[in-house]
Amino acid sequence: MAVPPMHSGPKRADSSQPSSRGTWGSKLGFILAAAGSAVGLGNVWRFPYVTGSNGGGAFVMVYLLCIVLVGLPIIVAEVLIGRATQRSPVAAFRALSRRGGPWMLVGWLGVAAGFVILSFYTVVSGWSVYYAYRAFFGGFTNLGASEINHMFDALVADHTRNLGLHALFMAACIGIVISGVRSGIERWSRILMPALFLMLISLAIYGCFLPGWRKAFDFMFAFRFSQLNASAILEAMGQAFFSLSLGMGAMITYGSYLSKETGVLGAATSVVALDTFVALLSSLVIFPVIFSFGMAPSSGPGLVFKSLPLAFAQMPGGYVVAICFFSLLVFAALTSAVSLLEVVSSTFIDLYGWSRQKATLFTGCVAFAFGIPSALSGKGFFLTWFKSHLSMSYFDLMDNLASNWMLPLGGLATAVFAGWFFRADHRDREFLVATKSTFRLPWLYLVRFLAPIAVFVVLLNYTGILAKIQHLMR
Ligand code: TRP
Repeated sequence: MAVPPMHSGPKRADSSQPSSRGTWGSKLGFILAAAGSAVGLGNVWRFPYVTGSNGGGAFVMVYLLCIVLVGLPIIVAEVLIGRATQRSPVAAFRALSRRGGPWMLVGWLGVAAGFVILSFYTVVSGWSVYYAYRAFFGGFTNLGASEINHMFDALVADHTRNLGLHALFMAACIGIVISGVRSGIERWSRILMPALFLMLISLAIYGCFLPGWRKAFDFMFAFRFSQLNASAILEAMGQAFFSLSLGMGAMITYGSYLSKETGVLGAATSVVALDTFVALLSSLVIFPVIFSFGMAPSSGPGLVFKSLPLAFAQMPGGYVVAICFFSLLVFAALTSAVSLLEVVSSTFIDLYGWSRQKATLFTGCVAFAFGIPSALSGKGFFLTWFKSHLSMSYFDLMDNLASNWMLPLGGLATAVFAGWFFRADHRDREFLVATKSTFRLPWLYLVRFLAPIAVFVVLLNYTGILAKIQHLMR
């Protein structure tokens, strides 16, 4: 039975909610914007290479389980918290917990994660802009393997170019976020997302005709038990968080612009489905190409920037395919980076009453400054000093810090909050808006028990505590 929306949650005697906060134009607007956040480099660049490095089928299986059992309940929790409070993360936790207190820290952790992720995300986005540009000007045709490898290595080590691309990309994000929720973020998502789907589906159809398609399909979906190991499970979980934009309040922020009449479960499920669809389909574009040209699927982060252009250079129609592929990558990255910037800037709008212009310009510039070391991580101090002292470059450090620590921690806290600390009557009323009541209990069990426990185990594993316990028990 669909329960009609009652009243819109407890009214607070609080004038800090600006009437000019903005809302999505429609449910579809929300779905496209949230899918724009979720679908990004994580789907097109990271998912295929992590899958490739972890042997394919078994990893994909575990990833899908993580998406459904952990990702979906937490994304519902985030959107619910956002819609219930109509505020960005810090203010949302403050509004829902009696005196704010420790829960506000979870919001701030999210804001910090936003800065950290943006700082390296725009750098990789910048590389995709460069590759799209090179593709357009015919840059891969007639190039051999060593030249294409060199192209990537030279780009990564080129400080001026990286800084320029980083600035360009950040400026584009600022431009979109500054125009507002509906006329900036939603409008661009309505343009870029359908374009992305169209290109991706065309490329996938093209991929079906490549000789390596069967092998690629097998690689992706044949379940080989022997490949299932602990580290693959950890990676799958981390990837699920990153891909769904979870654990830092991005979905709280986007949910806060959602109309009180829209069912959260349905909308969130659409976002999860689109994100998963794009990840799988991207792999079904990339792996047929890789296999058709006899390359290894396990080449790591360079898969998209080294192996793929080489294949584009050799295949018929490669010029057009390369343009499509790298523009797709840019579009995906742009709508995701926009969501990261929106989280941090809306925090300043909600908490301090700043105008959108001021908040976006300020946070965009801070994020740009913060990302400078990442942009310079290909060569010199931020590579060598960090490598010798912390065994990874500044760039990798940021990626690690955010993806392996901040996001799972934030996700864990959000699940615990939604499951145990969100006032039950308020939570249920919000959940049941335009949503069948049969889904309430399954969701509640997942968000109370399975999701937090799973994330907790993953975190324990990162710290190495689990290994120590295992050792002690032996
Ligand atoms: N989900 C995006 C991707 O797949 C990246 C991203 C955007 C993100 N916003 C986020 C990741 C918030 C974590 C949190 O590329």
